[in-house]
Amino acid sequence: MRILITGSNGLLGQKIVRQLKKRKIEFLATSKGENRNPDCDDSYYVSMDICSEKEIAGVFNSFLPNHIIHTAAMTNVDACELNPNDCYETNVIATQKLFNEAKKIQAHFQLLSTDFIFDGEKGNYKEEDEPKPLSVYAQSKVDAERFLLNDSYPNYSIVRTIIVYGIGNNLSRTNIVCWAKEALSQSQEMRIIDDQFRAPTWADDLAWACIRICELDKTGVYHISGPETMSIFEIVERVAKHFGLSTETLIRTDSSSLNQPAKRPPKTGFDLTKSRNVLGYNPKTLEETLDLI
Ligand SMILES: NC(=O)c1ccc[n+]([C@@H]2O[C@H](COP(=O)([O-])OP(=O)(O)OC[C@H]3O[C@@H](n4cnc5c(N)ncnc54)[C@H](OP(=O)(O)O)[C@@H]3O)[C@@H](O)[C@H]2O)c1
Repeated sequence: MRILITGSNGLLGQKIVRQLKKRKIEFLATSKGENRNPDCDDSYYVSMDICSEKEIAGVFNSFLPNHIIHTAAMTNVDACELNPNDCYETNVIATQKLFNEAKKIQAHFQLLSTDFIFDGEKGNYKEEDEPKPLSVYAQSKVDAERFLLNDSYPNYSIVRTIIVYGIGNNLSRTNIVCWAKEALSQSQEMRIIDDQFRAPTWADDLAWACIRICELDKTGVYHISGPETMSIFEIVERVAKHFGLSTETLIRTDSSSLNQPAKRPPKTGFDLTKSRNVLGYNPKTLEETLDLI
């Protein structure tokens, strides 16, 4: 396998690079600007702006990957809501450009997508459930997915995931589990919502699944998340309990009090039956990962 990764400076990108390196699988890491992942030697890194057709064509034609794992995206949901054009450019148009280049070299194209494509009224979503996006970010992922789903080129996969957590280097944003551990350790006051339910996903498990799909030459849609769905409040409580930290500074609140620009689905979570059966996916529980962060 020769795998090209977009977004290698991001949390998932870094985990994929780490696993490929460990397994001695050939790869090229790409992201916007400088390499910020010290685990990735500069000789395995090229700066590639996914919005530039010229840069994509240059990199694809010199590396000639047979798999592309496309993790790069505008991932801040509220920033997407406030800057819909930037979001569309980065999440939809860039995906189209990358997919078109992948087709030219007959490579497998893997797109990372999200539980936010669903409206969160049902929970425990299956791959074939109907998307009902509530935000600009969610709509951009649906549009990117549709571009693949409606194309006659069959060699693609879509990996949908849910709040991803883990440790990375020089990341541009934190994640709920790492933030909770840090804030609880410093007894900081935290306002945490109890009316949104998610299945937090260990970034290493997600990276494993992305690579596994490539290895097995699988195509189609896969739901990849942690095994348990719980409220955001419960995630933080469980982190506190695991590390023996006080919850006195935790303030229970609800989504309406946050006044966030983008609407979020109340309850997601995935049915993992397909991923377990087809990929052998066996994700860790929250507690199984906490001593690793
Ligand atoms: N994290 C979650 O909770 C979550 C949940 C559901 C789905 N997802 C999806 O999973 C994927 C990976 O998420 P993540 O948490 O690893 O994301 P992340 O940490 O925010 O990283 C995204 C990366 O995309 C890169 N990027 C943005 N614009 C770019 C451009 N124009 N050209 C090249 N690279 C660009 C950024 O590179 P620079 O840092 O170099 O700017 C960044 O490193 C995303 O597609 C996301 O939508 C994530």
